[in-house]
Amino acid sequence: MYQSLLGVALSALFLVAQPAFAEEPIVIKFSHVVADETPKGRGALLFKKLVEERLAGQVKVEVFPNSTLFGDADELQALQDGKVQMLAPSLSKFEGYTKQLEVFDLPFLFDDLEAVKRFQKRDKSRELLHSMARSGIYGLAYWNNGMKQLSANRELRAPADAKGLAFRIQPSSVINAQFGLLDATAVKMPFAETLKALQDGKVQGTENTWSNIGSQKLDSAQPFITETNHGVLSYMVISNQKFWNSMPYPVRTQLESIIEEVTVEVNKDAEALNQKEREHVVANGKARIVALSPAEREAWRTAMQPLWKQFEGEIGTDVLRAAQVVNRKH
Ligand code: LMR
Repeated sequence: MYQSLLGVALSALFLVAQPAFAEEPIVIKFSHVVADETPKGRGALLFKKLVEERLAGQVKVEVFPNSTLFGDADELQALQDGKVQMLAPSLSKFEGYTKQLEVFDLPFLFDDLEAVKRFQKRDKSRELLHSMARSGIYGLAYWNNGMKQLSANRELRAPADAKGLAFRIQPSSVINAQFGLLDATAVKMPFAETLKALQDGKVQGTENTWSNIGSQKLDSAQPFITETNHGVLSYMVISNQKFWNSMPYPVRTQLESIIEEVTVEVNKDAEALNQKEREHVVANGKARIVALSPAEREAWRTAMQPLWKQFEGEIGTDVLRAAQVVNRKH
Protein backbone atom coordinates (compact mmCIF):
# COMPACT_ATOMS: atom_id res chain seq x y z
CA MET A 1 0.00 0.00 0.00
CA TYR A 2 2.70 2.38 1.11
CA GLN A 3 4.79 1.44 -1.90
CA SER A 4 2.01 1.98 -4.40
CA LEU A 5 1.17 5.35 -2.82
CA LEU A 6 4.79 6.30 -3.11
CA GLY A 7 4.71 5.13 -6.71
CA VAL A 8 1.70 7.32 -7.50
CA ALA A 9 3.29 10.29 -5.75
CA LEU A 10 6.56 9.82 -7.61
CA SER A 11 4.95 9.47 -10.97
CA ALA A 12 2.78 12.56 -10.29
CA LEU A 13 5.93 14.45 -9.41
CA PHE A 14 7.56 13.15 -12.55
CA LEU A 15 4.60 14.23 -14.70
CA VAL A 16 4.66 17.71 -13.21
CA ALA A 17 8.40 18.01 -13.33
CA GLN A 18 8.92 16.55 -16.80
CA PRO A 19 7.78 19.45 -18.98
CA ALA A 20 10.20 21.81 -17.24
CA PHE A 21 13.10 19.55 -18.19
CA ALA A 22 11.84 18.54 -21.60
CA GLU A 23 10.71 21.95 -22.93
CA GLU A 24 12.38 22.69 -26.23
CA PRO A 25 12.52 26.18 -27.71
CA ILE A 26 9.96 27.01 -30.39
CA VAL A 27 11.78 26.92 -33.72
CA ILE A 28 10.94 29.54 -36.34
CA LYS A 29 12.35 28.78 -39.75
CA PHE A 30 12.44 32.03 -41.74
CA SER A 31 12.98 31.37 -45.43
CA HIS A 32 13.49 33.95 -48.16
CA VAL A 33 14.84 34.30 -51.67
CA VAL A 34 17.29 37.21 -51.56
CA ALA A 35 20.84 37.77 -50.29
CA ASP A 36 21.69 38.65 -46.67
CA GLU A 37 22.92 42.14 -47.61
CA THR A 38 19.52 43.36 -48.80
CA PRO A 39 16.68 45.06 -46.89
CA LYS A 40 14.83 41.76 -46.39
CA GLY A 41 17.99 39.72 -45.74
CA ARG A 42 19.13 42.17 -43.07
CA GLY A 43 15.65 42.32 -41.56
CA ALA A 44 15.51 38.55 -41.16
CA LEU A 45 18.93 38.52 -39.46
CA LEU A 46 18.04 41.41 -37.14
CA PHE A 47 14.82 39.60 -36.20
CA LYS A 48 16.85 36.49 -35.36
CA LYS A 49 19.32 38.49 -33.27
CA LEU A 50 16.67 40.31 -31.24
CA VAL A 51 14.59 37.17 -30.67
CA GLU A 52 17.60 35.25 -29.47
CA GLU A 53 18.56 38.08 -27.11
CA ARG A 54 15.11 38.61 -25.65
CA LEU A 55 13.54 35.16 -25.84
CA ALA A 56 16.66 33.08 -25.25
CA GLY A 57 15.79 29.44 -24.65
CA GLN A 58 12.16 30.05 -25.62
CA VAL A 59 12.39 30.78 -29.33
CA LYS A 60 15.08 29.89 -31.84
CA VAL A 61 15.14 31.50 -35.30
CA GLU A 62 16.81 29.84 -38.30
CA VAL A 63 17.21 32.05 -41.37
CA PHE A 64 17.53 30.53 -44.85
CA PRO A 65 18.42 33.19 -47.48
CA ASN A 66 18.77 32.95 -51.27
CA SER A 67 16.10 30.24 -51.83
CA THR A 68 18.29 27.69 -50.01
CA LEU A 69 15.36 26.09 -48.17
CA PHE A 70 12.32 27.05 -50.24
CA GLY A 71 12.00 29.28 -53.28
CA ASP A 72 9.26 31.21 -55.02
CA ALA A 73 7.68 28.05 -56.41
CA ASP A 74 7.09 26.30 -53.10
CA GLU A 75 7.54 28.66 -50.11
CA LEU A 76 3.89 29.62 -49.64
CA GLN A 77 2.81 25.98 -49.73
CA ALA A 78 5.60 25.15 -47.26
CA LEU A 79 4.25 27.80 -44.88
CA GLN A 80 0.77 26.35 -45.08
CA ASP A 81 2.14 22.85 -44.52
CA GLY A 82 4.06 23.99 -41.43
CA LYS A 83 7.49 23.25 -42.97
CA VAL A 84 8.52 26.85 -42.48
CA GLN A 85 7.11 29.37 -40.01
CA MET A 86 7.96 32.78 -41.48
CA LEU A 87 8.38 34.25 -44.96
CA ALA A 88 8.45 37.73 -46.46
CA PRO A 89 7.40 37.30 -50.09
CA SER A 90 7.07 40.24 -52.42
CA LEU A 91 3.53 41.61 -52.54
CA SER A 92 3.52 40.59 -56.21
CA LYS A 93 3.48 36.93 -55.20
CA PHE A 94 0.15 36.73 -53.36
CA GLU A 95 -2.22 36.87 -56.29
CA GLY A 96 -3.43 33.32 -55.68
CA TYR A 97 -4.71 34.45 -52.27
CA THR A 98 -5.91 38.03 -52.73
CA LYS A 99 -6.25 40.48 -55.60
CA GLN A 100 -6.24 43.54 -53.36
CA LEU A 101 -2.46 43.54 -52.95
CA GLU A 102 -2.14 44.11 -56.71
CA VAL A 103 -2.43 47.79 -55.83
CA PHE A 104 1.28 47.73 -54.98
CA ASP A 105 2.13 46.56 -58.52
CA LEU A 106 0.45 49.43 -60.32
CA PRO A 107 3.20 51.34 -62.14
CA PHE A 108 3.72 55.01 -61.29
CA LEU A 109 1.09 54.85 -58.53
CA PHE A 110 3.61 55.72 -55.83
CA ASP A 111 6.01 58.60 -56.46
CA ASP A 112 8.67 57.17 -54.20
CA LEU A 113 9.30 54.92 -51.21
CA GLU A 114 8.13 57.63 -48.82
CA ALA A 115 4.69 57.55 -50.46
CA VAL A 116 4.64 53.76 -50.14
CA LYS A 117 5.46 54.03 -46.44
CA ARG A 118 2.70 56.58 -45.92
CA PHE A 119 0.20 54.23 -47.55
CA GLN A 120 1.38 51.28 -45.48
CA LYS A 121 0.52 53.21 -42.32
CA ARG A 122 -3.05 53.90 -43.40
CA ASP A 123 -5.98 51.78 -42.19
CA LYS A 124 -6.78 50.44 -45.66
CA SER A 125 -3.28 49.14 -46.04
CA ARG A 126 -3.22 47.69 -42.49
CA GLU A 127 -6.46 45.84 -43.33
CA LEU A 128 -4.71 44.15 -46.24
CA LEU A 129 -2.41 42.43 -43.76
CA HIS A 130 -5.46 40.31 -42.94
CA SER A 131 -6.63 39.83 -46.52
CA MET A 132 -5.34 36.24 -46.65
CA ALA A 133 -6.75 35.02 -43.32
CA ARG A 134 -9.06 32.61 -45.18
CA SER A 135 -5.97 30.79 -46.41
CA GLY A 136 -4.43 30.68 -42.94
CA ILE A 137 -1.85 33.35 -43.83
CA TYR A 138 -1.20 35.85 -41.06
CA GLY A 139 0.26 39.19 -42.16
CA LEU A 140 2.60 40.73 -39.61
CA ALA A 141 4.24 43.72 -41.31
CA TYR A 142 5.28 45.43 -44.51
CA TRP A 143 8.98 45.57 -45.26
CA ASN A 144 10.14 47.62 -48.21
CA ASN A 145 12.87 46.99 -50.68
CA GLY A 146 12.74 49.91 -53.10
CA MET A 147 11.67 51.28 -56.44
CA LYS A 148 12.13 49.10 -59.53
CA GLN A 149 14.29 49.84 -62.57
CA LEU A 150 14.00 48.37 -66.06
CA SER A 151 16.94 46.50 -67.53
CA ALA A 152 17.52 44.96 -70.94
CA ASN A 153 20.07 43.92 -73.49
CA ARG A 154 19.39 47.15 -75.36
CA GLU A 155 18.81 50.72 -74.36
CA LEU A 156 15.26 51.40 -73.21
CA ARG A 157 14.71 55.12 -73.43
CA ALA A 158 11.19 55.25 -74.81
CA PRO A 159 8.37 52.72 -74.19
CA ALA A 160 8.58 51.59 -77.84
CA ASP A 161 12.16 50.40 -77.23
CA ALA A 162 10.83 47.46 -75.18
CA LYS A 163 8.75 46.12 -78.06
CA GLY A 164 9.41 42.49 -78.91
CA LEU A 165 11.66 41.75 -75.90
CA ALA A 166 10.90 39.06 -73.32
CA PHE A 167 11.07 40.21 -69.69
CA ARG A 168 11.35 38.04 -66.57
CA ILE A 169 8.63 39.07 -64.16
CA GLN A 170 7.23 38.12 -60.76
CA PRO A 171 3.93 36.20 -60.89
CA SER A 172 1.62 39.20 -61.10
CA SER A 173 -1.17 39.91 -63.58
CA VAL A 174 -0.54 43.63 -63.27
CA ILE A 175 3.13 43.29 -64.16
CA ASN A 176 2.21 40.88 -66.94
CA ALA A 177 -0.22 43.45 -68.37
CA GLN A 178 2.36 46.22 -67.94
CA PHE A 179 4.69 44.50 -70.40
CA GLY A 180 1.72 43.72 -72.64
CA LEU A 181 1.14 47.47 -72.98
CA LEU A 182 4.74 47.78 -74.19
CA ASP A 183 4.19 45.06 -76.84
CA ALA A 184 6.74 42.97 -74.97
CA THR A 185 6.44 39.42 -73.62
CA ALA A 186 6.40 38.76 -69.90
CA VAL A 187 7.72 35.47 -68.53
CA LYS A 188 6.79 34.60 -64.93
CA MET A 189 9.78 32.99 -63.32
CA PRO A 190 11.19 32.38 -59.82
CA PHE A 191 13.68 34.98 -58.69
CA ALA A 192 16.46 32.41 -58.31
CA GLU A 193 16.27 31.56 -62.04
CA THR A 194 16.52 35.13 -63.29
CA LEU A 195 20.27 35.50 -63.78
CA LYS A 196 20.57 32.23 -65.70
CA ALA A 197 17.58 33.04 -67.91
CA LEU A 198 19.19 36.38 -68.78
CA GLN A 199 22.56 34.73 -69.43
CA ASP A 200 20.97 32.05 -71.62
CA GLY A 201 18.97 34.63 -73.55
CA LYS A 202 15.69 32.99 -72.56
CA VAL A 203 14.62 36.51 -71.57
CA GLN A 204 16.30 39.73 -72.61
CA GLY A 205 15.16 42.04 -69.85
CA THR A 206 13.72 42.32 -66.37
CA GLU A 207 12.69 44.81 -63.69
CA ASN A 208 13.98 44.97 -60.16
CA THR A 209 15.45 47.18 -57.45
CA TRP A 210 19.10 48.22 -57.31
CA SER A 211 19.47 45.97 -54.29
CA ASN A 212 18.28 42.89 -56.15
CA ILE A 213 20.08 43.80 -59.38
CA GLY A 214 23.39 44.26 -57.60
CA SER A 215 23.22 41.40 -55.10
CA GLN A 216 22.21 38.88 -57.79
CA LYS A 217 24.71 40.33 -60.32
CA LEU A 218 21.94 40.87 -62.85
CA ASP A 219 23.98 43.81 -64.19
CA SER A 220 26.53 41.28 -65.47
CA ALA A 221 23.91 40.10 -67.97
CA GLN A 222 22.10 43.37 -68.65
CA PRO A 223 24.10 46.00 -70.51
CA PHE A 224 21.46 48.70 -69.97
CA ILE A 225 19.52 49.70 -66.87
CA THR A 226 16.97 52.48 -67.25
CA GLU A 227 16.36 54.40 -64.08
CA THR A 228 12.57 54.47 -64.28
CA ASN A 229 11.61 54.04 -60.58
CA HIS A 230 8.29 52.98 -62.11
CA GLY A 231 6.99 50.68 -59.40
CA VAL A 232 7.65 49.42 -55.92
CA LEU A 233 9.00 46.15 -54.58
CA SER A 234 7.68 45.62 -51.09
CA TYR A 235 7.12 42.57 -48.89
CA MET A 236 4.65 41.20 -46.42
CA VAL A 237 6.16 39.41 -43.45
CA ILE A 238 3.84 36.48 -42.87
CA SER A 239 3.35 33.45 -40.69
CA ASN A 240 1.06 30.48 -40.60
CA GLN A 241 -1.96 31.65 -38.60
CA LYS A 242 -2.37 28.37 -36.71
CA PHE A 243 1.30 28.29 -35.78
CA TRP A 244 1.26 31.92 -34.65
CA ASN A 245 -1.80 31.42 -32.48
CA SER A 246 -0.38 28.22 -31.01
CA MET A 247 2.42 30.11 -29.27
CA PRO A 248 1.96 31.25 -25.67
CA TYR A 249 0.48 34.75 -25.60
CA PRO A 250 3.49 36.47 -23.94
CA VAL A 251 5.84 34.96 -26.51
CA ARG A 252 3.61 36.01 -29.38
CA THR A 253 3.30 39.59 -28.19
CA GLN A 254 7.04 39.84 -27.61
CA LEU A 255 7.67 38.53 -31.13
CA GLU A 256 5.20 41.03 -32.56
CA SER A 257 6.89 43.91 -30.80
CA ILE A 258 10.28 42.74 -32.10
CA ILE A 259 8.83 42.60 -35.63
CA GLU A 260 7.58 46.16 -35.20
CA GLU A 261 11.05 47.27 -34.17
CA VAL A 262 12.71 45.43 -37.06
CA THR A 263 10.17 46.90 -39.50
CA VAL A 264 11.21 50.42 -38.51
CA GLU A 265 14.87 49.54 -39.10
CA VAL A 266 14.28 47.78 -42.43
CA ASN A 267 12.17 50.61 -43.79
CA LYS A 268 14.60 53.24 -42.54
CA ASP A 269 17.62 51.63 -44.26
CA ALA A 270 16.04 50.29 -47.45
CA GLU A 271 16.57 53.38 -49.58
CA ALA A 272 20.21 53.80 -48.48
CA LEU A 273 20.92 50.13 -49.16
CA ASN A 274 19.50 50.48 -52.67
CA GLN A 275 21.62 53.56 -53.33
CA LYS A 276 24.71 51.70 -52.08
CA GLU A 277 23.98 48.84 -54.45
CA ARG A 278 23.43 51.32 -57.30
CA GLU A 279 26.95 52.62 -56.64
CA HIS A 280 28.32 49.07 -56.82
CA VAL A 281 26.59 48.57 -60.16
CA VAL A 282 28.12 51.82 -61.45
CA ALA A 283 31.56 50.81 -60.11
CA ASN A 284 31.28 47.35 -61.70
CA GLY A 285 30.96 49.07 -65.04
CA LYS A 286 29.10 46.16 -66.64
CA ALA A 287 25.83 47.97 -67.26
CA ARG A 288 25.24 51.49 -68.48
CA ILE A 289 22.69 53.43 -66.47
CA VAL A 290 20.19 55.24 -68.63
CA ALA A 291 18.87 58.40 -66.94
CA LEU A 292 15.54 59.70 -68.19
CA SER A 293 14.59 63.33 -68.61
CA PRO A 294 11.30 64.30 -66.93
CA ALA A 295 9.60 64.26 -70.35
CA GLU A 296 10.99 60.79 -71.15
CA ARG A 297 9.81 59.44 -67.80
CA GLU A 298 6.40 60.96 -68.42
CA ALA A 299 6.16 58.93 -71.64
CA TRP A 300 6.61 55.70 -69.63
CA ARG A 301 3.95 56.85 -67.18
CA THR A 302 1.54 57.57 -70.00
CA ALA A 303 2.18 54.15 -71.53
CA MET A 304 1.63 52.25 -68.27
CA GLN A 305 -0.98 54.24 -66.39
CA PRO A 306 -4.01 52.67 -68.16
CA LEU A 307 -3.44 49.72 -65.81
CA TRP A 308 -4.88 51.68 -62.87
CA LYS A 309 -8.31 51.70 -64.50
CA GLN A 310 -7.93 48.18 -65.85
CA PHE A 311 -7.27 46.67 -62.41
CA GLU A 312 -9.43 48.97 -60.27
CA GLY A 313 -12.30 46.47 -60.26
CA GLU A 314 -10.33 43.58 -58.81
CA ILE A 315 -8.23 45.70 -56.43
CA GLY A 316 -11.23 47.64 -55.14
CA THR A 317 -11.89 51.35 -55.60
CA ASP A 318 -11.51 51.96 -51.85
CA VAL A 319 -8.01 50.47 -51.78
CA LEU A 320 -6.92 52.26 -54.95
CA ARG A 321 -8.22 55.62 -53.73
CA ALA A 322 -6.47 55.21 -50.37
CA ALA A 323 -3.20 54.63 -52.22
CA GLN A 324 -3.75 57.56 -54.56
CA VAL A 325 -4.35 59.95 -51.69
CA VAL A 326 -0.73 59.57 -50.59
CA ASN A 327 0.35 60.95 -53.98
CA ARG A 328 -1.62 64.16 -54.07
CA LYS A 329 0.90 65.66 -56.45
CA HIS A 330 -0.78 63.75 -59.35
C1 LMR B 1 11.62 39.04 -57.30
O1 LMR B 1 11.12 37.92 -57.50
O2 LMR B 1 12.15 39.71 -58.19
C2 LMR B 1 11.59 39.62 -55.91
O3 LMR B 1 10.33 39.44 -55.38
C3 LMR B 1 12.61 38.96 -55.04
C4 LMR B 1 12.56 39.49 -53.64
O4 LMR B 1 12.11 38.78 -52.76
O5 LMR B 1 13.00 40.64 -53.47
